[in-house]
Amino acid sequence: MSEHTPTIEMRNVSKHFGSVIALSEISMEVHAGEVMCLLGDNGAGKSTLIKTLSGVYRPTEGELLLEGKPVRFKSPAYALDAGIATVYQDLAMIPLMSITRNFFMGREPTVGWGPFKRIDWKHADRVAKQEMAKIGIDVRDPGQPVGTLSGGERQCVAIARAVYFGAKVLILDEPTSALGVKQASVVLRYIAKARADGLAVIFITHNVHHAYPVADAFTLLKRGTSLGTFRKEAISREEVLNMMAGGAEMESLDAELAEFQRSDQEGKAKRGGNTASLPGDAQQAYVAGDH
Ligand SMILES: Nc1ncnc2c1ncn2[C@@H]1O[C@H](COP(=O)(O)OP(=O)(O)OP(=O)(O)O)[C@@H](O)[C@H]1O
Ligand SMILES: [Mg+2]
Repeated sequence: MSEHTPTIEMRNVSKHFGSVIALSEISMEVHAGEVMCLLGDNGAGKSTLIKTLSGVYRPTEGELLLEGKPVRFKSPAYALDAGIATVYQDLAMIPLMSITRNFFMGREPTVGWGPFKRIDWKHADRVAKQEMAKIGIDVRDPGQPVGTLSGGERQCVAIARAVYFGAKVLILDEPTSALGVKQASVVLRYIAKARADGLAVIFITHNVHHAYPVADAFTLLKRGTSLGTFRKEAISREEVLNMMAGGAEMESLDAELAEFQRSDQEGKAKRGGNTASLPGDAQQAYVAGDH
């Protein structure tokens, strides 16, 4: 593999669901140490694209390459074994299980041999605590249920797990959308760390303030087709924002809102004359209902 071989690449990938064309001839590549932001409206095909990369769906046409080699995943487990870790917004964790159990899930370290083989919880707890500490989250008791962590911290457990088990590609489907500013920044900082560790990161978000600081490039999807990949140097925050919202739609929304404001003011002016003639209580109710 040469230095310029992308860690993950899609070549002319299409995905059809019966007569629905969810993806049409998408080509995209992400290199080690790079964050690619996937942008696009609801239904543009973002989730379908990452599910195709992570083994949930098989492409109808086209090819996936991991470190230059063509791959076909029978299931998400195969993709994970090959080094593609995906963090979904809700499915990342089992809330009632401990942080340690969630961290290791299916890959618990063992001690002993033969019939004496058992899970080494002491070691597991130590690793979970230590890996969380690396990203600045102080877990007092790794035995506490994951459900007691904040949303942001939970996302971080999922990402920490991916990094610890040697993922080459980290895929995040809207990990920050339900988070407050502070928690989102914890996750964003961790995305930046994964990039610094040399992972290829694919990050889906609708929030330009989350996308812009961490992204190296943006790929814009529209109705299942790619409108292209843009390097960050070549595009401003405003342009990204326009692409996310669909520039034309925002303009027509602006016009609609202006029209609404105008007619609202006209209405108010008219009502102003009417309300003056209402008795006290009715006038109060009328004004209150207006808000
Ligand atoms: N399993 C499926 N069967 C049929 N159609 C599907 C299936 N999965 C997705 N689609 C269709 O494919 C298109 C893309 O959906 P997808 O979920 O990838 O969009 P998205 O970009 O992730 O949207 P959002 O921002 O709302 O999450 C949609 O029109 C959707 O209805
Ligand atoms: Mg989606």
